[in-house]
Amino acid sequence: MILYFSGTGNSLYVAKKLAELTGDTAVPISAIHERCRRIQDRIIGFVFPVYFGDLPQPVLDFVRQVRFQKSTYFYGIATCGSTAGRALKTMNHLLRHQHCALSYGAVLPMIANSTVASRRHIRYNVNRLDHADELILNAADKIHRQVQDVTAIHSSLSAWLMNLGPIRHAGERWLTPSVDGRRCVACGLCARICPVSNIICTAKQAIIGSHCSHCLACVHWCPQQAVTVHGKQILSEDQYHHPDVTAGDMMRR
Ligand SMILES: Cc1cc2nc3c(=O)[nH]c(=O)nc-3n(C[C@H](O)[C@H](O)[C@H](O)COP(=O)(O)O)c2cc1C
Repeated sequence: MILYFSGTGNSLYVAKKLAELTGDTAVPISAIHERCRRIQDRIIGFVFPVYFGDLPQPVLDFVRQVRFQKSTYFYGIATCGSTAGRALKTMNHLLRHQHCALSYGAVLPMIANSTVASRRHIRYNVNRLDHADELILNAADKIHRQVQDVTAIHSSLSAWLMNLGPIRHAGERWLTPSVDGRRCVACGLCARICPVSNIICTAKQAIIGSHCSHCLACVHWCPQQAVTVHGKQILSEDQYHHPDVTAGDMMRR
């Protein structure tokens, strides 16, 4: 089973591609959260984006709550803008609490969806995704052969710094979305794609709740550009999602 978390489709794309190449099934963690307490597959993969050099909180909570078995071959694939920080190390650490461990970890630099908070007229270099495709093929081959390769699983000083209380809080504030009531047409798309079900949509407008995972799905997928980050209006040309992933794919979970 390939368990994934995704806001703008990079990790969803990687999980689906790996599933195709390895004959496995990709399942969003939101589909099994709460209901399933034990997963005992022979091979388990985790595919997730890097947030602040570390694991997204929903992935962290998920791995803490579900029970796994020691004999499973575990692997982790971190998608990111540039570097994975300590994300794979944290994943391994969580598994070790259950006497399990990652046998293989890989980092896939793709497109940084967080750039939208600080820049305008970004012109994402989607050619980078071709390189990611090559890395996916390489990862699939290793997973198929159940290779042991932990070279990508390490700690990181910059990730440690980024996760110091006040710095992390400032980062989260910087990447907190809110709804511009003047632009929102209450279509409800954001509520349907939010991977942590933190958005409700009234007849008038969408309302974001208090357990945001900062995935920026609502920011990037909103057809009206009605979701701002730290009050910054987003241009439609700066909205990003993986070109092979649709809003429908994001909702299918
Ligand atoms: C809150 C947040 C923090 C991020 N932090 C990092 C980071 O520390 N390093 C990095 O290379 N990319 C970072 N990114 C970029 C994402 O990891 C990257 O775009 C990822 O592939 C998105 O995956 P998704 O499309 O499946 O959501 C961050 C993105 C967000 C939304």
